[in-house]
Order: sequence, then structure tokens, then C-alpha cells
Amino acid sequence: MEVTDYAFFPTRVVTIQFPDTEPLNAELCDLFERRPELDDRFNLHPDAQNLLRLADTVPAIEQLRSKFITGAKHWLDAEGIAGPEGIDLLLFSNRSCRGESTVVHNHHADLIGIYYARTADSDRQPIDPADGEDYFEAGDGVLLLHDPRFNANLTTVCHRDHVKVVPRPGLMLIFPAYVWHSVTPHRGEFHRLSFAMNFTLRWPASPAEYHSLK
Ligand SMILES: [Fe+2]
Repeated sequence: MEVTDYAFFPTRVVTIQFPDTEPLNAELCDLFERRPELDDRFNLHPDAQNLLRLADTVPAIEQLRSKFITGAKHWLDAEGIAGPEGIDLLLFSNRSCRGESTVVHNHHADLIGIYYARTADSDRQPIDPADGEDYFEAGDGVLLLHDPRFNANLTTVCHRDHVKVVPRPGLMLIFPAYVWHSVTPHRGEFHRLSFAMNFTLRWPASPAEYHSLK
């Protein structure tokens, strides 16, 4: 008897907890307290404000850009992807008042990065590796990643059709932009502040050029 076990079509999610981010997070929170008009919220449109226009003049935005590049490189390395000649970047913020949430959506990009500058306090690990999450327990500003397999939750043999991420300041996630995700209501009196980066990979113009880069 020959038994072979495959796990096809997994979805890679990379998390990075950056150390010593308190000064950066404080600068980012202060920036948006002073200039709330910068907050463009979740925005799918190609003409969305790109906060990277501030990178040359606001050091915190440049630090954020650098951290997102680090995250994208980790994701691409983990997937064994070495071909892109560049990455187009679109950075926007999500500054939430009490009671605000984000409905299920995905992004027009290849990869999404999320970075948390200010969140509710929690002692929990960001991702519980065990499969014991209650889908309908809202929590406080919890990020829900939904299984990209269509109607995966409708089969009783499905092991896990969603993942909850309990955010904390300094945490970054990188995952494919096709992954549907949502955020449960923010319960605190303060402004919760997160940033999203859309990564669009740029590829060499011709197959010959592609091979020359390898
Ligand atoms: Fe999003």
C-alpha cells in the first residue's frame, strides 16, 4: 500500500513582530492626530491617496515603508519567488473610532501588508495555532482572514475556514491580496490606527529578460 498525502493550495501568511516600535507608533499616532485628513481609510480605488508621498518629509512614513519592504521580502523568500524586478507600493491608513469596523473585502494587488500602530491591549498571541476559534465572537478590533476556497466552510471535513488575528502594536502581516478579510468593531475610546500596503509586483518585459535575472 502506498499512501501519499498532499496539502495543495495553502495560503502563506507571514507575521513579524517588530521590536522597539513605541517611538515609531507614537509618531504615527501623533501625525494622524494633527492631520486626520491624511486618513484615507480602506480604499480599493486606484486613485487612492498614497501616504508614501510623505516618505521624503515624514521620517515615520519612511520607516513604515522600510518595514513593509522587509515584510514583503520575507513573504517572497518563503514562497521562493525571486523573479520580480520591482514592487509598486500603495500605502493607506485606517483610523477607527469606537464602534467602527471593516466589512469583508480584498485588495486589488498581489500582496497586502498590514501594520498596527495602536490597538486594544491583549495578552493573547496574535494567532492561535489551535483550531478553537468561535467565528461569531467579535472580540475587539480582531482581523478575520477568511478561507479563500469558495464555500470551504460548507463542508464538514473542513478543518479551519477562518483565522483570527488579535492585533498588537508593532505587528505586521503579509498575505496574498485575494484573501478576503474583515475587522470586527473597535471597542476602545481611542483611535485605533493601522496601515495597509498594497504590493503589486512588476515583472520583466519578456521571458528572455526574466531568465536573465535568475
Ligand atoms: Fe484590507
